[in-house]
Amino acid sequence: MAIELPWVEKYRPERLKDVVGQPEIVQRLQSYVEKHNSPNLLFSGSAGIGKTSAAVALAKELFGGQFERNFLELNASDERGIDVVRNTIKDFARTLAFSGDFKIIFLDESDALTGDAQQALRRTMEKYTKTCRFILSCNYSSRIIEPIQSRCVVFRFRPLAAKEMQQRLEEIAKKENVELGEKALDAIFYVSMGDMRKAINVLQASASLGGKVTEDTVFNVSSRAKPREIKEMIQLALKGKFLEARNLLDTLLYEHGMSGEDVMLQLYREVIGAEENEIESKTKIALVDIIGEYNFRMVEGANERIQLEALLAQFMKFKK
Ligand SMILES: Nc1ncnc2c1ncn2[C@@H]1O[C@H](COP(=O)(O)OP(=O)(O)OP(=O)(O)O)[C@@H](O)[C@H]1O
Ligand SMILES: [Mg+2]
Repeated sequence: MAIELPWVEKYRPERLKDVVGQPEIVQRLQSYVEKHNSPNLLFSGSAGIGKTSAAVALAKELFGGQFERNFLELNASDERGIDVVRNTIKDFARTLAFSGDFKIIFLDESDALTGDAQQALRRTMEKYTKTCRFILSCNYSSRIIEPIQSRCVVFRFRPLAAKEMQQRLEEIAKKENVELGEKALDAIFYVSMGDMRKAINVLQASASLGGKVTEDTVFNVSSRAKPREIKEMIQLALKGKFLEARNLLDTLLYEHGMSGEDVMLQLYREVIGAEENEIESKTKIALVDIIGEYNFRMVEGANERIQLEALLAQFMKFKK
């Protein structure tokens, strides 16, 4: 049997118009294609929202058939440090561009570069301005030294909205002959939180179970609790029903295989998102405070189950 290509790669945008969301960014990049020129760029934003895709699509549109020759992709976190800047980049940047007038070096995860490497990069960027443009991609632009930021046009990518993801996911489902159950997409939006890579991966994993993709399969493959399960656990604790809340916690940990950290994060999300009639604002503040405390203990290495149970016990103090 042929190994199936991950859908995230199979459906990586080929052209700028296929990059969903980020409309202003796409428009600016398209104007660079029209002018056949581009400044140095810095793409910042969280994971899986189209930074690499936009860089690759931009280069494909600029260089067409000469794309391979004129585009160099490096991952700063694999090849961390100063040598990669000194050697690989220089070798590539030094030679003349094949077709167009310039080449593009795409440096992924550039916030992983050490300070020294960034300083070296800064000089390299200057030296090869005639032949080379740089696109740096990072999760946090604050980790990029100021002199580099000022040499780049900065684009901040946003997590995608549900309706932006919807069309693309439906398109993929259709091409792959996958049937989407009624609440499947809502569940995918909930677990992926604007991360398109995660959304597509969850869709593929659910589909690989065979049959229709449903709310249940989505939550199962992503080891997430359904929001209502978490809500129910919170409400049980707030009603003082400790044993029932604890049983539900056990189900999440042992039957759904969730990690303590995942439960904690979802607890936080549901408390913050609760309506006033579910949890009053005053109580909400106190609960967030408790979550903060127990999250810290868990990160410090305390036993997850004990900490989560203790957290539920703390919640019981707010019994009406
Ligand atoms: N805006 C988008 N439009 C269309 N597809 C997208 C978008 N963002 C992500 N994807 C899908 O998710 C995959 C991963 O996206 P991409 O590599 O562009 O993410 P990234 O922002 O570079 O993330 P990271 O910070 O982890 O490198 C793509 O191959 C594509 O299938
Ligand atoms: Mg990337």
